[in-house]
This record gives sequence, structure tokens and C-alpha cells, in this order.
Amino acid sequence: MERVNAILRHPVYQSYYHRLEKLEQDRPFCRHQAGHLLDVARIAYIRCLEEGCSLDKEVVYAAALLHDIGKSLQYEQKIPHEISGCVIAAEILGTLPPEAAFSEAEKEQILTAIRGHRRLRKEPELLERLLYESDKASRACFACPAEPECSWDEEKKNKEIQL
Ligand SMILES: [Fe+2]
Repeated sequence: MERVNAILRHPVYQSYYHRLEKLEQDRPFCRHQAGHLLDVARIAYIRCLEEGCSLDKEVVYAAALLHDIGKSLQYEQKIPHEISGCVIAAEILGTLPPEAAFSEAEKEQILTAIRGHRRLRKEPELLERLLYESDKASRACFACPAEPECSWDEEKKNKEIQL
């Protein structure tokens, strides 16, 4: 997981992560910190294994770790976070140390998945679909005290455990 931890340690990642943490500290609804990011990573990789996909584990974790990194700009400047997140993720992925670099094809896969994680396109790429599905499946709406006030569509809420 050397490449994933290089993302985690990246100063740009740390800066946006903590900016978001501060903005969400009093948020009653879902937050977008490590717990959520790792839930998404693990669900996506489990689904990948169940489906017999051959995605690289670090590529799956990198996409999950980065997918909400633009959220602070959505709160502050109303920029959709899949758009700003893609720009920030490209900067991070483009400036990792050489020993932790992702290939051009892997970077493209990750950025496409981030860009598509909020609305599923007609013919999504594999990682894009897994990220979208895992992001939604990760939320435990059935145990959330803020669920009645949550703006998610009723049919999107997880009223039961998702397998
Ligand atoms: Fe998310």
C-alpha cells in the first residue's frame, strides 16, 4: 500500500482533508472522512473480488481515498465536488514521488472514477461503477439519527444492510 500511503501523506491531500474535516465538524449528516473513505475502498475491493475483476488493489483504494477530496470547494464555492476533486486528485497523482507513481493509464482510471462517482453514466468504466455503487452502499442510513432530515432520495437510502 506504499502508493496509497503516499497519497495520504501528500501535503495537498492533507490540506484539503483537514479543511473538509473542519467544515464538517458540526454536520449532522454523512461526513467524508477516513471512516467513509475506507468503507468505500473496502466495499469496492470486495465487490471487485466477488465479480472476479482484476483491478489493482492500490488503484481501487486510491480512487476511494480521493473521491471526496473536492468536497470543501463544494461547501465554500459551490463547485461540484466530482469536478474539483478530479482537478485536485490530478495534481496529487501527478506529484507523487517517483517510487509511488501510478501509471498514466491508472491515473486516467482513477480520475474517470472520481468524475463519475455521483451519477452513473450509461456505460461506465469498471472502477467508475464500483466507486459509485460502493459510495452509496457505504452509508448506514438505517442507523443514522439524521436520516429523517437527510436530502437523499428515499429510494437511495439504505434502510437495510447492503451486501
Ligand atoms: Fe463518498
